[in-house]
Amino acid sequence: MRHLMNPLDFSVEELDRLLDLANDIEKNPEKYAHSCAGKKLATLFYEPSTRTRLSFEAAMLNLGGSVLGFSSADSSSAAKGESVADTIRVISCYADICAMRHPKEGAPLIASMKSRIPVINAGDGGHQHPTQTLTDLLTIRSLKGRLGNFTIGLCGDLKFGRTVHSLIQALIRYPDVNFVLISPEELRIPDNIRDDVLRRNRQQFKEVVRLEDALPELDLLYMTRVQRERFFNEEDYVRMKDFYILDKEKLKLAGPDMMILHPLPRVNEISVEVDDDPRAAYFKQAQYGVYVRMALILTLLGLEGSVC
Ligand code: CP
Repeated sequence: MRHLMNPLDFSVEELDRLLDLANDIEKNPEKYAHSCAGKKLATLFYEPSTRTRLSFEAAMLNLGGSVLGFSSADSSSAAKGESVADTIRVISCYADICAMRHPKEGAPLIASMKSRIPVINAGDGGHQHPTQTLTDLLTIRSLKGRLGNFTIGLCGDLKFGRTVHSLIQALIRYPDVNFVLISPEELRIPDNIRDDVLRRNRQQFKEVVRLEDALPELDLLYMTRVQRERFFNEEDYVRMKDFYILDKEKLKLAGPDMMILHPLPRVNEISVEVDDDPRAAYFKQAQYGVYVRMALILTLLGLEGSVC
């Protein structure tokens, strides 16, 4: 039995197969419409979510399976003090696979150690968000035609942004990826990612504060939200929240093919006037999230080879 805690849990070859499967699902959805008949997905969300929870649920329904779960800690027995370890033992009796989001880093890992069903980390605190990374990789590969040989700017909250941490770890395995890390001083990438991931792997990267300085050299721009829920005080959040706003005027500095990604939700960091720009790919990215989660469910249930 396999779980997914970290994007590195899959080798590059396994990831290629997973992304190929996701592309096939996109092209031939009817082939997969009954592949999970009789299977159940539990979504255990101790933190708010729109895309991750609902795209997991859509994925399982598209595969002919069923879904059950809860969307907040308050509506589960966590509110009465039940541990994640006890919860997953019980859920193992009710479902075949589970996706868990939790505000505490490592909570899905603890669940996986006690589980009798595959557990998918659907985001744990500021740590990892591996299925967002699978979504990002599928989006880049499908729309850019390659993973590697590009310069990517990661902009916003690089300190607490789990999507950025997971994506950097995944992208260093591909050739010639240059990183431009764009953040205010207070929200710089954590030391463990800078030193243990980027420097240790001799990765090309630089850190800048101004988005305008980075835009002309980017093939991809990955915008992120400044996350109110990760700040210890409101004052710091208010000071940081509108540090970056990508608008039409700033976009004039970017190349005609620069792809704009964002894991969403967006607050103010991308002006809505950018949504109609052909470079904006963040809503397509959310759609790719369904295909890749369908591929992931099939793979972790060992059903990926059963469809022909
Ligand atoms: N990208 C993402 O994780 O969105 P949600 O918080 O809405 O799930």
